[in-house]
Amino acid sequence: MLGTQWGDEGKGKFTDLLAADASMVVRFQGGHNAGHTLVVNGESFALQLVPSGVLYPHTTPVIANGVVVDPFVLLAEMAMLEERGVDVSRMKVSGNAHLIMPYHQQLDALHERHLGDAKLGTTKRGIGPAYADKSMRLGIRVQDMLDEKIFRAKLHTALGHANTILTRVFNRLPIDPDQLADKVLAECLPGIEPLIADSIDLIHSALENGENVLFEGAQATFLDLDHGTYPFVTSSNPTAGGACTGAGVGPRHIDRVIGIAKAYVTRVGSGPFPTELFDDIGDYLVDVGREYGTNTGRRRRPGWVDAVMLRHAVRLNSLTDLAITKLDVLDQLDTVKICTGYKIDGEEVSKLPYHQSLIHRAEPIYIEMPGWKKDLTEVRSVQDLPPNAKSFLDELSVQAGVGISLVSTGPGRKQYLDFS
Ligand code: GDP
Ligand code: IMO
Ligand code: MG
Repeated sequence: MLGTQWGDEGKGKFTDLLAADASMVVRFQGGHNAGHTLVVNGESFALQLVPSGVLYPHTTPVIANGVVVDPFVLLAEMAMLEERGVDVSRMKVSGNAHLIMPYHQQLDALHERHLGDAKLGTTKRGIGPAYADKSMRLGIRVQDMLDEKIFRAKLHTALGHANTILTRVFNRLPIDPDQLADKVLAECLPGIEPLIADSIDLIHSALENGENVLFEGAQATFLDLDHGTYPFVTSSNPTAGGACTGAGVGPRHIDRVIGIAKAYVTRVGSGPFPTELFDDIGDYLVDVGREYGTNTGRRRRPGWVDAVMLRHAVRLNSLTDLAITKLDVLDQLDTVKICTGYKIDGEEVSKLPYHQSLIHRAEPIYIEMPGWKKDLTEVRSVQDLPPNAKSFLDELSVQAGVGISLVSTGPGRKQYLDFS
């Protein structure tokens, strides 16, 4: 299960729905830059790190090796869930997952400030600096907390580097490694230690037992470090291959790859966006779709659904099917549009150009279709869909080149249509 656009497609909603049939839900990349919203019986849960299967008593939520974990955030999120009556005792965290430390967040904010107008618009959660340390072999893993000597030594090494940047590049005060170690070991270790697990063995034992394991992506295909609109991306691989490296499973274990797509598109932060709308329809999508960041509160940039991107996402992820969300948000529009290609320097193209300057210059080519002007939020079966809504989905499926298996018509767990 992964995002096919620029995030916030409704991965949390569909992960929660499909987790009903899964024994394990595994987050494989990203960190608390994610905000996944679940709405069950009118109650809303905004999750950042805890996998979206946590609400069921039969699922084991696993944070796998590819995730970057801020232990303070994880504990706060678990406490919030517990306070609301959710049992979090089955939570597991890979010992190989890397830690986000306070200096990562500080560096993230300082880098952004330094970039000025060229800023990426990150969530300032320390994601980039934590993955950078991982690549630099300066990262600290969750398992390092179990050995105080190693934890302190690694913090000394990592801060030797980070403090040089903080003090000499950004003119900030250095962070004391031992003080930080004291704080993390006192405030986090007692809560984190019982969660630490060999996630590889957990996941493979479940697979060997024939159990259903659901991999939950965060962010999305076009925020992928390798395949997104670089540098306006996140620092991990939210595409399907990221599930393999981020959870330690080979591709043959994955038999279904569900791409989540909104019936329109939103993007938070900077970067190219061919179908972006700056008009009343854009304001309508933001207002009706409540397109403000789950955690950061930032207004999301709105646009029409883009089949060029979806076709590319089908290729990059080997998508087996699409799950469409927020169809109800289009309910009141007279006409709806699907972008089928781009006009670039006078030429029509149907594939996403590899040269990003061209994406910046791309003008969308649309098919315009009549709207359905009916409230879909109570519709529960495909037969009851207004014909214009059905035609929109059929066209989207043809344009994307993959079948649509699920359609969401409201934030609630029960608000969906099963096309399979
Ligand atoms: P995620 O990051 O992909 O999990 O998505 P977010 O949770 O950040 O954003 C999706 C938002 O849309 C959340 O507030 C959901 O509750 C809401 N949502 C999900 N599906 C639907 C839907 O079909 N219709 C409407 N109106 N809202 C939805
Ligand atoms: P979910 O899982 C939407 C965006 C940020 C920024 C870029 C890099 O809820 O879909 P980062 O903090 O990761 O270094 O920021 O990526 N971004 C998201 N946008 N949804 C998300 O997560 C995002 N996570 C990061 O806005 O443009
Ligand atoms: Mg989100």
